[in-house]
Amino acid sequence: MADTKKRLLTGLQPSGQLHIGNYLGALKPFADTAPEYDAMLMIADYHALTSLKSPTQLRENIIDVVADYVAAGIDPANVVIFKQSDVMQHTELAWIFECLVTVPFLSQAHAYKDKVAKGLEANAGLFNYPMLMAADILLYDSEFVPVGEDQRQHIEYSREAANKFNIAYGQTFAEPKELIMSHVGTIPGTDGKKMSKSYGNTIPLFGTDDAIRTAVMSITTDSTPVGAPLNPETDIAFALHKHFSPNIKELEARYRSGEIGYKKSKEILAENIIATISPMREKRAALSREAVIQILKDGAEVARTRAEAKMKLVREKVGVGLY
Ligand code: ADP
Ligand code: TRP
Repeated sequence: MADTKKRLLTGLQPSGQLHIGNYLGALKPFADTAPEYDAMLMIADYHALTSLKSPTQLRENIIDVVADYVAAGIDPANVVIFKQSDVMQHTELAWIFECLVTVPFLSQAHAYKDKVAKGLEANAGLFNYPMLMAADILLYDSEFVPVGEDQRQHIEYSREAANKFNIAYGQTFAEPKELIMSHVGTIPGTDGKKMSKSYGNTIPLFGTDDAIRTAVMSITTDSTPVGAPLNPETDIAFALHKHFSPNIKELEARYRSGEIGYKKSKEILAENIIATISPMREKRAALSREAVIQILKDGAEVARTRAEAKMKLVREKVGVGLY
C-alpha cells in the first residue's frame, strides 16, 4: 500500500527549544497526519544559515530538533527524516529556480520584508530563501506541504517556481498544496499573546517539571477574588486546559460557579501538562546523539536517491545534462 500514499514534505528550521505551542500547532498535527502519507521531514539547516551564524549552536540545534520530533511521536521508521545540507540537489535546484524568477517577484515575499523590517541583515540567502524552499518541496514531487499560516505565501512561491520551470522547459513539476495546520488555533503564551520564543512567554516542551510549574504559575490572570465566578472564555489557563485536561466540561462548570480559583486551576494545569509530556521527555532522554545521527544518515540516503532521480531529469531538461 505504501506506494499509493501521497507524498507529503515539511521543513523546519533548527531554531532552539520547542514550546507547547510548537507541539500543539506543528509537531502533534504532523505526527497524527504522517501515517496517512509518504511523509518526509527535512531539517532546513541551510535556511537557518541565513540568520544563525554560530556553528556550535547550529550543530546543537540540529541534533535537538530531531530528538524533539522523534520523542514527540514522529517515527523514523515511517517518516524520512533528513537534513537539507545532506542532499546537495536542494541548492542545485534552487539555483535553477533563481534563474527563472525575477528580483521584483522575490522582493514581494512577506517573510523577507518582515525580517528586514525587524532589522535582520538582508543577505542574499534571505532574499533567495523561497527558491531554496521551492527546491525542497519540488525535488520530491511533494503533493502536500504542512505549514503554519505564516508560510502560506512561500508555498505560492513554490507553485510559481514549478510553473515557471514547466513553461520554460516542459511539464516537470506538479504544483504543491499547503496543508495549513490551523485547527488548533493559536496557543496563548503565559501573557496571553501568541506563545512564541520571540516573546519570552513560553511553556517549554521538554522543560523539567519545575520549569513547567514555574511557567504555568506565571500565567497572567485578572484580580477576580477567590470564590467569585471565573470566565473560562477569557482565561489564558483555561485555553490551555482545553488541550491538556480531561473533564473539561466539569472544569468549566467549576469556573462558572466560582468553585475554583486561578491558583488551583493553574496547579491542575501544570500537573496535566507534566503528565502529557513526561513520557515524551523520557523518550527524549533515552535517545543518544549517535541514534539521532543514525536517523539522519538513514534519511539522507533515501532522500538523496529520490532527489538525484529528479535532478537527472531536470539537468537534461535545462540542457546541462549531456552524459
Ligand atoms: P515561534 O513563534 O516560537 O518562533 P515558530 O515560528 O518557529 O515558533 O513556529 C514553528 C511552528 O510551530 C509553526 O508551524 C507554527 O505554526 C507553530 N506554532 C508556533 N507557535 C504557536 C502557537 N502559539 N500556537 C500554535 N502554533 C504555533
Ligand atoms: N520556511 C519554513 C519555516 O520557517 C521552513 C522550511 C524550509 C519548509 N523548507 C521547507 C517548510 C519546505 C515546508 C517545506 O517554517
